[in-house]
Amino acid sequence: MQEKLGAAHLEALQELGAVSDSEALRAWELKYLGKKGVVTELVRGVGALPKEERAEFGKRANEVKQALELAYADREQLVKDQELARDLEQGEIDVTLPGRPRGIGGLHPSTTTLREFYAIWAEMGFQVFRSRDVETDEMNFELLNIPAHHPARDMWDTFHTTTPGVVLRTHTSPGQIRSMRELGENGTQPIRVILPGMCYRYEQVSVRSEIQFHQVEGVAIGKHIHLTDLKGTIAEFARRMFGADKDVRFRSSYFPFTEPSMEVDVECLLCGGKGCQMCKYSGWLEIAGCGMMHPVVLQNGGYDPREWSGFAFGMGVERMINLKYGVKDIRYYWGNDLRFLEQF
Ligand code: DAH
Repeated sequence: MQEKLGAAHLEALQELGAVSDSEALRAWELKYLGKKGVVTELVRGVGALPKEERAEFGKRANEVKQALELAYADREQLVKDQELARDLEQGEIDVTLPGRPRGIGGLHPSTTTLREFYAIWAEMGFQVFRSRDVETDEMNFELLNIPAHHPARDMWDTFHTTTPGVVLRTHTSPGQIRSMRELGENGTQPIRVILPGMCYRYEQVSVRSEIQFHQVEGVAIGKHIHLTDLKGTIAEFARRMFGADKDVRFRSSYFPFTEPSMEVDVECLLCGGKGCQMCKYSGWLEIAGCGMMHPVVLQNGGYDPREWSGFAFGMGVERMINLKYGVKDIRYYWGNDLRFLEQF
């Protein structure tokens, strides 16, 4: 056995020295080191030896195997280099071909839609005002005319923090108070801003609701702002966002921080108003809540409601994408599934 092993070692090395292409290399590997290769069989044969010879032979066989594997790796590198050089010489590799582009990722649909919002509102004279995600109960509710225990609080399921009175904002509306106080110069300056950002709600995650989502809030304050300004502004936004041919309608509604309050619908983007599954056979899709700012809210922002008036609106960004592209499940947005994200 020992002799056989020695002979096999020698023979294998000799043959390897003559190998000059990858096909021969593969054949060599199969012959000596493959499952049924010469060396493998010899190693396996250790069991047939008398007990006292086994350890010695096993050790030697492993050494041979390792030596051959090393020799093989060396040869493989050499053969590869030679083949590459040959291909280059014969012009089989076109080094002038442009490389394959690497995927570099893309923007999230919420980001691109937010940017679309910014562009449209900027054209209409609205600046972006950044407001915080972690808010006080006072800003998120009280100053917006929603006192503690007011039944309207049920409209927002709230994430509370471990600090009493500090919550994750349930909507972008607290930015109304912050923007009035920061930009209004004690209620002396008109303002026109949008407040984009993430909102958080303590919801059961489902096809329709998520615990976080983007909203874009809008505020316009001046001395002669009327309901007609609000309607015209929102309708113009809808035309720019969804197309000039789309009808818009306003329904009366209720929000504690606006009076009167309305909800805005756009003609169903899928069926054009005839009625389909997406619009629940109503022909309309809801896109925003809005209204004339409540005198209490204006006052909390530092304005005298006898002199100043304003309107406000709030829109859900992911909702808008759902409508535009027919996305049926809101969980896709934070699901990180590339099959969804790559479509945008
Ligand atoms: N904050 C409301 C919500 O999250 C949306 C909203 C409605 C905002 C009416 C407004 C408004 O500014 O005027 O449900």
